[in-house]
Amino acid sequence: MPASSSLLHQRLAAELARREAAGTRRRLPAPPAPGLVDFSSNDYLGLSRHPRVLAAGQQAAQLPAGSTGSRLLTGNSQAAEALETQLAHFHGAEAALLFNSGYAANLGFFGAVPRRGDTILYDEASHASVKDGIRATPATAWSFRHNDLADLEHKATRATGAVFVAVEALYSMDGDVAPLPELAALCQRLGLHLVVDEAHTNGLYGPRGEGLVAALGLENAVFARILTFGKALGSQGAAVAGSALLRDYLLNFSRPFIYTTALPPVTVASLAAAYALLPDLQTAREQLFQLSDYLKATLNAVPGLHVPAGSHVIHPVFFTQNPGPAAVRALAAAAQTAGFDVRPIVAPTVPAGTERLRLIVHSFNTEAEIDALASELLAVSC
Ligand SMILES: Cc1ncc(COP(=O)(O)O)c(C=O)c1O
Repeated sequence: MPASSSLLHQRLAAELARREAAGTRRRLPAPPAPGLVDFSSNDYLGLSRHPRVLAAGQQAAQLPAGSTGSRLLTGNSQAAEALETQLAHFHGAEAALLFNSGYAANLGFFGAVPRRGDTILYDEASHASVKDGIRATPATAWSFRHNDLADLEHKATRATGAVFVAVEALYSMDGDVAPLPELAALCQRLGLHLVVDEAHTNGLYGPRGEGLVAALGLENAVFARILTFGKALGSQGAAVAGSALLRDYLLNFSRPFIYTTALPPVTVASLAAAYALLPDLQTAREQLFQLSDYLKATLNAVPGLHVPAGSHVIHPVFFTQNPGPAAVRALAAAAQTAGFDVRPIVAPTVPAGTERLRLIVHSFNTEAEIDALASELLAVSC
């Protein structure tokens, strides 16, 4: 190994050691043991295993394994274009453009649409993919306090150029929702362009699972929606939904769309099947929201634990006395040993001092599972 590589390795090792010392070093966890009760995956409706989704994927397995190129070269297909039409129709948008992940869609939107002289105002709790997209653009970007419309309005008065407001419909770490009707009204009044990440609401909100924007009838009040498929759709990929002009612009200027191999046929087929199922899953969605309320009430009855009143579907479990990252990890490990797939969320994913367990409720969980988890957390946290 050249001496320069060994110096570089020393630097990498020193940075890892710093994280180790701070208790923030990341490691790949063991794959979930079979049979654990799922309180962690994003597979909210169990669609990753739904027979019709699996059957669609199996049929597509006769096709090439890969898409063989960028959508702009050999990777385009009738199936991908048909899926985009299906998505636009389903979500009440003029058009939609597929991306390979929600990460790529946020990077692709924010890296391409806001230009120099424009301003992005983003909720401070925004996902890393929004923040990374913002880093890829020369536009000015300021965060505003979480869900704080007064702070947003104050910052908007100093903004220049086209002004974008980036929010999540439901925030991934705290499970709270954005005040979308108020945000839409503010954006309309001040001429701002609202961009809503529906990663955790797509498939779950609205009578057919169209997402929170459509459920609130705000389709025409948003400039763009980021719809991801790795969560309630049980698959992979994402789309930006908006005007036909926006779609055309993105496919010309969005580097994460242009310079990558398109989604494989099997994923496109599974997504079309999952979308076709969504309207029929209203009972599953109602069950999910009922269980979500049940989990909140049950865990809030456990001494020493606190689940915020405003969380939905995703529930952060805080401790009356913060035990620190190592203890939160140990607690999750104990719950896993007892048969529950429960994960710790620690810094740097969330600010130090706000370490928590994060519980995700699925339509296939049961009240008995929630009761058993609460008993286990009571036993191990005392
Ligand atoms: C709010 C939000 N946006 C975007 C993403 C990224 O989506 P994907 O996992 O499809 O890359 C996530 C994933 O965790 C998310 O929570």
